[in-house]
Amino acid sequence: MSEVDTVAKELEFKLVVTKNGKHRPKSRNKLQSSVHNIGGQVCVERAEFCQKTALTQLQQAESDLLQSEFLRECLASIAPILAGVEQLICLGLGNFLDCTIARYQLAFIRCVRSQTNLPIKGQFFDPVFTQPEVDTLHALGESILHENLEGKHAVERKTLFFLPHCPKQIVNNLLWKNWHPDRLANVVLLCNSFNTVVNNNPDRLLRVNAGYILRAVDLFQEVPLRNTFRFGDVFNDTSLHYLSDERTSEQGVWDCSNEEPWYEEEDLELISKDKVERLVFV
Ligand SMILES: C[S@@+](CC[C@H](N)C(=O)[O-])C[C@H]1O[C@@H](n2cnc3c(N)ncnc32)[C@H](O)[C@@H]1O
Repeated sequence: MSEVDTVAKELEFKLVVTKNGKHRPKSRNKLQSSVHNIGGQVCVERAEFCQKTALTQLQQAESDLLQSEFLRECLASIAPILAGVEQLICLGLGNFLDCTIARYQLAFIRCVRSQTNLPIKGQFFDPVFTQPEVDTLHALGESILHENLEGKHAVERKTLFFLPHCPKQIVNNLLWKNWHPDRLANVVLLCNSFNTVVNNNPDRLLRVNAGYILRAVDLFQEVPLRNTFRFGDVFNDTSLHYLSDERTSEQGVWDCSNEEPWYEEEDLELISKDKVERLVFV
């Protein structure tokens, strides 16, 4: 039985049938705290129903992927690179309870992890996550990051970053934060293709919004995921990137001012820490 099956089953067991035949939860303390509206039992039951539906849909997405040639092919090309990964961080997944694309992306990363036998929890952050999404991730045994680092995560251990269709400024910030050969060697990135970013944007804008991607494109090996999945808009333009041993020792590669990236308000693609704080206080 898969992990997601087990969680769905556990939720099923928590439901008891009342005298009038309605399902009612045995213990609702956890879920109750996750419901914003003090709307009573109807809200709690609705939240439980939504979570059960989400888990079922996720389970279907995982089994769909596990039977696909797409996943088989991906694993053949990326599994060797993922050996030794000790941390999994996922940013920019989006609202996976409502959005099929995000749900398949979540299913994908969970399948990749299980099929490559990585014994690690995922750490998820997206400022748009709703409380039911946070609860669902917890129910699945994943963890949630609470601080909006805008992608500036420094890593000391080999880490797989899954940033599906994430703003390029997040990738840029992540590269800046780890811009040292020893640290970048720990960064494995599954995100939009660096080559596409560089080829599809004018140099002037790249220097402002993606200067570190511009530098990284020649330093990283890129393994494109062949987009053969039956839904074409879930994994399009996605590649695995990892530091290439050949280039890191070349002279001049690391000689640049490691200035922290800064973006004009009107160019901002990511949701900044400031923006979230302003939203909270208005
Ligand atoms: C283009 S959407 C991609 C959503 C989904 N993964 C997809 O492929 O449809 C970009 C996502 O990045 C998220 N995002 C924006 N700023 C972020 C930040 N500071 N940290 C993490 N995620 C962020 C947005 O909330 C959004 O869900």
